[in-house]
Amino acid sequence: MSFDLPDLPYAHDALAERGMSKETLEYHHDLHHKAYADNGAKLASGTEWEGKPLDEIVRGTYQDGAVAQSGLFNNASQMWNHNQFWEMMSPSGVAMPSELERRLTDAFGSVDEFKSQFSAAGAGQFGSGWAWLVADGGGTLKITKTENGVNPLCFGQTALLGCDVWEHSYYIDFRNKRPAYLTNFLDRLVNWENVASRLPPA
Ligand SMILES: [Fe+2]
Repeated sequence: MSFDLPDLPYAHDALAERGMSKETLEYHHDLHHKAYADNGAKLASGTEWEGKPLDEIVRGTYQDGAVAQSGLFNNASQMWNHNQFWEMMSPSGVAMPSELERRLTDAFGSVDEFKSQFSAAGAGQFGSGWAWLVADGGGTLKITKTENGVNPLCFGQTALLGCDVWEHSYYIDFRNKRPAYLTNFLDRLVNWENVASRLPPA
C-alpha cells in the first residue's frame, strides 16, 4: 500500500562508518519517515486518494504557487522522498557507472562541478527541503532545490538523486554544518548505480 513504511535496505548501523550514524537512522527512518506514513494514511483515509499510488497522490495534491501545501500533500511527498532517499545511499561505496559520469560531464562540465553545484543548491535551500539532480521532460539533467516536501514529481521531472537537507537528516552527525553533510553524502554515501538506473535515455 502507498503508506506502508518500507524497511531500510540495510541495517541501521550500516552507514555509520560512512558518516550517517545508527542514531540518525533510528530517528530518521523509525520516527520521522514512520510519522509521514502514519499521518499520510490517516489523511488519505475516506478520501478520493485512499488506495491510490503514492506518486499519483503527490502529483494530484500539489498546489502550484500555494503559500502552504495541504497536510496530505506534505505527508505523501515526504513519504515518497524518503522511500527514494534510502535507496539512493549504499553502505559499500558504489563507483559511478561510466554512462552517468558521461551524462554529468556533458551537463555540468565535470563530476566535480556537478558535486559543487549540487552542494551549493542544498546549502542554499533556506530552511527545510531537498537538493535534487533531475532529468526534465526532454531528458536534460538539472540541479534543483525544493522547500519542505516538494519534489520533482510536482514539475514533471524525474528524480535521479535527492539529498534531504532537513535538520533531522544531519544534526546528530554534523550539528549545524549542512555543507559538510552534503560533501559527505556525495563523496561517501551515494549509490551511483541507483542514480544511473534512473537515467532516461539520452
Ligand atoms: Fe527526512
